[in-house]
Amino acid sequence: MRISVIGCGYLGAVHAASMAQLGHDVIGLDVDEAKVAKLAVGVAPFHEPGFDDLLRRGVESGRLRFSADPAEIRDAEIHFVAVGTPQMSGRLGADMSYVDQAVTTIIEHADPADGARPALVAGKSTVPVGTAEAIAQRLASSGKRLLLAWNPEFLREGFAIQDTLHPDRIVYGLPDDRADGELAKSILDECYAVPLAEDTPLVVANYPTAELVKVAANSFLATKISFINAMAELCDVTGGDVTRLAEAIGHDDRIGRKFLQAGIGFGGGCLPKDIRAFMARAGELGVDQALTFLREVDTINLRRRDHAVHLAEEAVGGLEGKKIAVLGITFKPDTDDMRDSPALDIAGKLWAAGAELAIVDPAAADKLRDRRPDLNVPDTLEEALEGAHAVMVLTPWREFVELDPAAVLPLVAAPNVIDGRNVLDPQRWNDAGWNYFGMGRGVPT
Ligand code: UGA
Repeated sequence: MRISVIGCGYLGAVHAASMAQLGHDVIGLDVDEAKVAKLAVGVAPFHEPGFDDLLRRGVESGRLRFSADPAEIRDAEIHFVAVGTPQMSGRLGADMSYVDQAVTTIIEHADPADGARPALVAGKSTVPVGTAEAIAQRLASSGKRLLLAWNPEFLREGFAIQDTLHPDRIVYGLPDDRADGELAKSILDECYAVPLAEDTPLVVANYPTAELVKVAANSFLATKISFINAMAELCDVTGGDVTRLAEAIGHDDRIGRKFLQAGIGFGGGCLPKDIRAFMARAGELGVDQALTFLREVDTINLRRRDHAVHLAEEAVGGLEGKKIAVLGITFKPDTDDMRDSPALDIAGKLWAAGAELAIVDPAAADKLRDRRPDLNVPDTLEEALEGAHAVMVLTPWREFVELDPAAVLPLVAAPNVIDGRNVLDPQRWNDAGWNYFGMGRGVPT
């Protein structure tokens, strides 16, 4: 099939390359010419495991192209909308201007051949419920033969390719009109059916359900994380160990073990802004009370960052002039994404409190140097640890999780380690002579 993907960020670029991998002819469109120039020659503009290979294979096959020229999307049979919906500055709601612009572009440039079936616009961006209906009306009154389906995406950064090619489920939000719905479904089936859909559960619903599935899933995940972080607060004042608690409750299938990792909380370009946009939308719909619990989820999450700063302050006896080695700055490992990163926020707070920082990150160091030339980002882990009064593990990159406490002890000025992700073995670090501070881990047994 001929496919266009509008928006080539993490979501769109991975989707475009994955669709080319399935054998489709794909054009990725983005307004950012520098990004397009890189993608077009097979160079990934961000860090995502496996993406470089997938991208290069797609570009070399001739089935994957990128452009900033909207005229190129003209004859696509499906237009995937994969642009960002960031939080509006100073407000809870999502900025929908990129989605609106993408729809305008499609209406202006899409031109299904005479006699061919209508082209399908498939929304992938995370949007406030009600958006799809409004877009469908715009398409209907455009005079072009364009149909809409809502087809949310659930990929995680760090696992983006696996999640795109082997998703847990596929969701189609289809038009209410039966004939349109069947046509939209058949176009999506043709796109995904072989080989994706074979073992993948397919949930067919209407537009609002499909839009809600996405934000409901992210809200549930955020709630799980804040729940376990609330338990960490209880563990901290009682001497309990939240990692054991999570293990024990997670054995119950109804609860499950995943997303119960307590620590400095969730960040990234999705969970924080999605729960806020969801609350804002519920307010607009007059049902804000249905989601007030998400306000608490957000509050608990942000409190973790202050708690980590407080732990560091306690550990070193006042932050002014103390050297803190910050290990990891991205919002999670296997990405260079620092959007709403708890680690970056904590580093900023430590710096504001007068600490001297040395920040290391396996993927984001160069990006951080560009963005924050005021911060000290040494080349090596050893340089960062040298003379530190505390070491803070804020992103659980494998090289930090696997650090040998005995080997690095001689480098530091004071043996304080703050395990912001509860990924180190307290016993091992204490035995090696460190003062270990976890997030709700009580006294090691
Ligand atoms: C999230 C969802 O997991 C995806 O399903 C969704 O498609 C995506 O948002 C999106 O809306 O596009 P992602 O932002 O890549 O994916 O990251 P997650 O793996 O969900 O992690 C989010 C944050 O939660 C990270 O900062 C992570 O460190 C933190 N986290 C995760 C915890 O603090 N504890 C946990 O137990 C799990």
